[in-house]
Amino acid sequence: MTSELLSLCKGKRIIDVGAGVTTLVQSLLDREFQVTVLDISSEALQILSSRHGAGVEYKLGDLSSQLELGEYDIWHDRAVLHFLLEEEEYQSYVSNLESCIPVGGFAVIETFSLDGAEMCCGLDLRRYSKDMLVELLGENWQLLKSINHVYTNPSGGERPYISTVFQRK
Ligand SMILES: C[S@@+](CC[C@H](N)C(=O)[O-])C[C@H]1O[C@@H](n2cnc3c(N)ncnc32)[C@H](O)[C@@H]1O
Repeated sequence: MTSELLSLCKGKRIIDVGAGVTTLVQSLLDREFQVTVLDISSEALQILSSRHGAGVEYKLGDLSSQLELGEYDIWHDRAVLHFLLEEEEYQSYVSNLESCIPVGGFAVIETFSLDGAEMCCGLDLRRYSKDMLVELLGENWQLLKSINHVYTNPSGGERPYISTVFQRK
């Protein structure tokens, strides 16, 4: 899904939120994207920084509070929204999203689906359906695509996900 979107989108500025130590960064750099990664963990950002150096912008921040993020063409989240349990936390997430993606920009949001695990890394999750994501993002966003799929992690565990692409109206 991310590949499809990357060919659709003309802009090259992408922010990967809750990036962790993702290998997505290298794929994006290979496609000449301007990559910003954001995480609440300075350790994760240090690992990414040791891999990618000055070719990437690094932001330390908590998506459940109001952040100054700049402007991007694409917001990408795999597996962070579902950790925000309280309404004020996931509303701050949306507010941060809207602060940095202008009209015409995209949001790719991938979370555990309703049939997914209830916990991850020992933490409770708020799992999502397509309708829940549409309702959360609200009338400023148009859903372009949604797929439910099962991701098999490196240790063989199966993780049911929902992956969505929205465009800002
Ligand atoms: C399950 S990992 C996903 C990492 C990566 N996106 C991937 O798919 O491999 C979730 C990441 O979200 C980060 N995270 C958790 N809560 C966060 C918050 N409130 N704000 C920003 N990042 C957060 C964690 O530190 C962790 O790196």
